[in-house]
Amino acid sequence: MSEFLLPNEKDARVRSRNYRGEIIRDAVRLTESQKILGNGLSYCVNTYGCQANVRDGEVICGILEEMGFTATEEMSMADLIILNTCAIRENAENKVVGELGYLQSYKRRNPNLIVGMCGCMAQEPQMARKIVEKYPIVDLMFGTHNIYRLPALLENIMKNDVRSIEVLSRQGNIYEGLPTIRSSRHKAFVNIMDGCDKFCTYCIVPYTRGQQRSRLMQDVLDECRQLTENGYREITLIGQNVNAYGKDLDEGYDFADLLNRVADIGTERIRFTTSHPWDFTDAMVDAIAQRENIMPFIHLPLQSGNDEILKKMGRRYTREQYLELYDKIVSRVKDVAVSTDIIVGFPNETHEQFIDTLKVVDYCRYDNAYSFIFSPRESTPAARMEDRVPIEEKKERLALLNQKLGEYSKMHNKQCEGKVFDVLIDGVSKTDSTVMCGYTRQQKLVNFRSEKGRVGDIINVRITEGMKNSLNGVDVSDERADNE
Ligand code: SAH
Ligand code: SF4
Ligand code: F3S
Repeated sequence: MSEFLLPNEKDARVRSRNYRGEIIRDAVRLTESQKILGNGLSYCVNTYGCQANVRDGEVICGILEEMGFTATEEMSMADLIILNTCAIRENAENKVVGELGYLQSYKRRNPNLIVGMCGCMAQEPQMARKIVEKYPIVDLMFGTHNIYRLPALLENIMKNDVRSIEVLSRQGNIYEGLPTIRSSRHKAFVNIMDGCDKFCTYCIVPYTRGQQRSRLMQDVLDECRQLTENGYREITLIGQNVNAYGKDLDEGYDFADLLNRVADIGTERIRFTTSHPWDFTDAMVDAIAQRENIMPFIHLPLQSGNDEILKKMGRRYTREQYLELYDKIVSRVKDVAVSTDIIVGFPNETHEQFIDTLKVVDYCRYDNAYSFIFSPRESTPAARMEDRVPIEEKKERLALLNQKLGEYSKMHNKQCEGKVFDVLIDGVSKTDSTVMCGYTRQQKLVNFRSEKGRVGDIINVRITEGMKNSLNGVDVSDERADNE
């Protein structure tokens, strides 16, 4: 393994107070031979995980196309398959390990197939070592810090018939201007920061993504302006903690300033995710409340409704502070929808502590929620905490929680019946061109019929039925939206 560069836990943990990610603007400069390396070859990138990975996937596609590769959706036909992985919970990893299993049969059929793996799983020391040792079909491995190395790593494999394994663990830099193939022509993710310094005790992200690095506001604004000029109607500003934006810079601006400046550009729909309840300032609430083009939808992860568990999780807010913020948001932002993330079965969580979470759910009546059973993650403090709660009990808690969450989302969706909403059309059924789906300003999924609508249009849809996870409706573009 000596020729391979694998991640290590010690470096992944490092945080220096005065560290600034270097801004690198020309990381991908292809040599003449790299520009033609992929000619006549096809590729497939399978992305798992969060928006950060989706955005990285777009960069990987951009680099591959500059190298001459052509995209294919037919994985069995591809000459290069890259798994862009997520490590947030064990089941996310199991999916990838399962996929590696059947890629072995592809490789038997096509020995020239190149299999690559990148993303957060590649950043886990034990996992990376296991993959390298047990899955010789993996020819290529790189991490979240060195995507720009893809051309050189591929060239090494293709010219020298060797494996290229190079994963770095470090605080991280900021890469601007990397090649990109956007996955949509009307909606875009704009990364405003990378990494995370919060170190919630259950979470692997600070280890897999490095130190928090905010992009300069000017670079974010330039990207948003260009997308808007190119016809993009919705921009989602992404980061693990968007409200900590700018805290690592000495520029004197914060996320509220950024929101207002992006809103000034005039993009029709602006969203952001994820906003940690900590650092959520009044100025942010004001921006969301006052700016017409910032969507009234806030993802506000709760994780737990019990103070002791919140403390053990390292979340740095109490139930009371969370509810205060929730009240502020709901009273100030008109027609706002709020969603959340909740973990059940944190080590030694008692039944009473779980009930505290249900009580917060009863108070907040979320529009939408993601719920998870705690999954111990390599290197994290929570993975070493004593846990006497049996998995069956955790599953029961999850079922109880999901039932409650489902009732509230259905309640909100029922309240939409008969009303008209602006819907940005996302997709059209392959079998019936009048059947479409899209999202309201509050990020509610709507399935509807429309004769005239096209992907990327914003049209008026009257809701005919509200269900647990989505709405049904009809195009009434000739009528005026009365609920926005
Ligand atoms: N940065 C975001 C979270 C990103 S991870 C934030 O702080 O809100 C998305 C969600 O996965 C988290 O909100 C949490 O609910 C869940 N999650 C993270 N680590 C987990 C673990 N070890 N087990 C179970 N769920 C986890
Ligand atoms: Fe993970 Fe916490 Fe950072 Fe979110 S804020 S990415 S949960 S460490
Ligand atoms: Fe998964 Fe990494 Fe995102 S662990 S949730 S892909 S930051």
